[in-house]
Amino acid sequence: MKIVKSIRDMQSYMFHLKKSGKSIGFVPTMGYLHEGHQQLMTKAREENDIVVTSIFVNPLQFGPNEDYERYPRDEVHDTNIAEKEQVDILFYPHVNEMYPKDQTIKMTVHQRVNVLCGQSRPGHFDGVVTILAKLFNIVYPDYVYFGMKDAQQVAVVDALVQDYNFPVQLRPIATVREQDGLAKSSRNVNLSNQERNEAPYIYQALLHGQELIREGEHDAQGIIQEVSHFIHTHTHGKIDYVDLLSYPDLERVNQLHEQVILAVAVYFKHARLIDNVVLDQD
Ligand code: PAJ
Repeated sequence: MKIVKSIRDMQSYMFHLKKSGKSIGFVPTMGYLHEGHQQLMTKAREENDIVVTSIFVNPLQFGPNEDYERYPRDEVHDTNIAEKEQVDILFYPHVNEMYPKDQTIKMTVHQRVNVLCGQSRPGHFDGVVTILAKLFNIVYPDYVYFGMKDAQQVAVVDALVQDYNFPVQLRPIATVREQDGLAKSSRNVNLSNQERNEAPYIYQALLHGQELIREGEHDAQGIIQEVSHFIHTHTHGKIDYVDLLSYPDLERVNQLHEQVILAVAVYFKHARLIDNVVLDQD
């Protein structure tokens, strides 16, 4: 596995690979790799000649009171995992390499962000699209792999690719979970023992909501209330949001007819956990 830290080296290397006609699969991450990330790498490995992973904790997508400093980092562990997943090239830039100065041109996301994490984390998706636009122009990927755990991110990146004509195809991958259902996340290490025991109820609550929908409940507010109640009853976490929206447009629905997302975010003491299920309506 080749580890590249400079943008120039990366671009010239990727340019040659691209010219030789190889397909390039790209898995952007912020590191502290776990089985969720690994699943994206496995898929990329299956579908491409060359697999590139990036590890970069992007300061632009963290709010002033968020966990940028606290975000877990482990270079040795991550390098080993990437190697094990047969990643060909690991792009691991320093923050000064990606942002040598304040960006002159700022990207702002206008749709699909006034709800869910976009609402509770103002500017977050502006930071996400900024780093991804930069990475796409450094890696030249054909296919990019994203987890549905961050379903709003998938919806926003879908818009980025469409609006700015990036010649890449999105590959959304199902959420990878612990045995007890908790969605794998780099932030799970920040949970206390008690919180870790309560956290699986977040997914249980989503399954409960999903069941209600499958049983024919069509009132969005009623489902949201049920799911919130379930989380309140089983955890000490503080609900940030529970919402039911169309997907991928993320617009309010009163009656359920189209593809919808049921999504939650819950604050524990040192970690904010998110999860969702996307459901097709007949
Ligand atoms: P990060 O949180 O490291 O996640 C990298 C990718 O792994 C994302 O596409 C995310 O959805 C996926 N992922 C995380 N947990 C997963 C799980 N349990 N199952 C399936 N996929 C999972 O998302 C980011 O980084 C950043 O916003 C990034 C896109 C790299 C831009 O900075």
